[in-house]
Amino acid sequence: MTGDPMSGDPIARKLLPDTAEVVDGRLRIGGCDVIDIAKRFGTPVFIYDEEHLRTRCREAVAAFGEGVAYASKAFLSKAMARIAFEEGMYIDVATGGELHIALAAGVPGARLVFHGNNKSIDELAMAIDSSVGRIVIDSFDEFDRIESLVAGGRPRPNVLVRVNPGIDAHTHEYLQTGVPDSKFGFPLTEGIAIEAIERAKASEALRFRGLHIHIGSQVFNVSNFGRAIEALAPFVNSSGAEEFSIGGGLGVAYVQGEDADSITEWADAVLGAAREGGVTARILAEPGRSIVAQAAVTAYTVGTIKELPGVRTYLSVDGGISENPRPVLYGSGYEAFLPRAVDAKRPMEARIVGKHCEAGDIIVRSANLPGDTVVGDILCTPVTGAYGHSMGSNYNKVGRPPIVFVRDGEARLVVERETYDDMLLRDLG
Ligand code: LLP
Repeated sequence: MTGDPMSGDPIARKLLPDTAEVVDGRLRIGGCDVIDIAKRFGTPVFIYDEEHLRTRCREAVAAFGEGVAYASKAFLSKAMARIAFEEGMYIDVATGGELHIALAAGVPGARLVFHGNNKSIDELAMAIDSSVGRIVIDSFDEFDRIESLVAGGRPRPNVLVRVNPGIDAHTHEYLQTGVPDSKFGFPLTEGIAIEAIERAKASEALRFRGLHIHIGSQVFNVSNFGRAIEALAPFVNSSGAEEFSIGGGLGVAYVQGEDADSITEWADAVLGAAREGGVTARILAEPGRSIVAQAAVTAYTVGTIKELPGVRTYLSVDGGISENPRPVLYGSGYEAFLPRAVDAKRPMEARIVGKHCEAGDIIVRSANLPGDTVVGDILCTPVTGAYGHSMGSNYNKVGRPPIVFVRDGEARLVVERETYDDMLLRDLG
């Protein structure tokens, strides 16, 4: 953030995982030295603070109660699914692939909420066969598919109807899902949502449990959720819903100077608005980013430092848009720092780029780093636990990085690095 008065300051501790501590100037997470982890597992590597993950899951359950679901699209591996389950969360899965991983982790189907605006008949069959707790219906075509599966002898699933409330959540255009022009849900306009609810209630093939909305992601102002709930309260009550899920979307701080509400504050705003609106249905939620984003840092190795006189300094690391496409997709900002000098001032300005063959392969557009940063340094970007690994690719045949969970001084490899041979597994020649 060039021009920001705080930009040369040391990295703000609140952007680091909960158990982060500085010992002899070096960063430890979960009692493990981050540079040691980078050396042991190689770079790039995602390092997750397991205690942080567990604490956020517990906070969500305490704030919203039974039924609050972790939105696994933010970050999913078997270890993560198990943590969310063990800490009492349900899990939101949005594809057959996410469903498969959650089941493979040992999460019972009853604890899963199945989402998606274009669920295939095979995915719906898989969801019903694994007795998922809720299917969130998103289209009339989906009604047809579920009804045909039940007519073929499968049991009646419990369903929520996804309503598009037509609310502007003040976030990036691609992250807005509840605006009038959206592919998600049944719009309130023209009686379409009412028609969907009536169909769900009348259908012999379904058990109607309630309604679902999701107004967008990385929403900073919790009053946006309050507005949506107040606007919908009469509708929710007249629908006869027993449950009303407000989806996910709570924003997190990514860079110095940003502030975000906690999950507890979000729940207070949401539950308060529901009370004021006289909503009788049980309120549910699906946080993703706010559970995992700040739990992780990505560690890279600095490979080249190129000074272009009068232009800028380019600092290349050994990853890029393949493990963090968010800067190029959404213009998202990140910070960077050296785990060998966590509390150092960061007067050097540089653009941190990856190793991909694209000029847009930018990880941090305007980063600040200590002046003595050199090739070979381990460099970290914090707040990379959400929508990084999960949206990663192996573009340019760069292998996806490993995931390491740290806790109580132990580092545990939970996802291996993708190897060159892994990339040939499905290549039949
Ligand atoms: N529930 C539903 C139905 C959703 O569509 C989403 C996110 C969530 C819950 C979780 O939202 P969260 O609490 O994580 O904001 N790739 C984008 C974010 C896309 C979010 C999609 N849906 C990014 O990197 O910012």
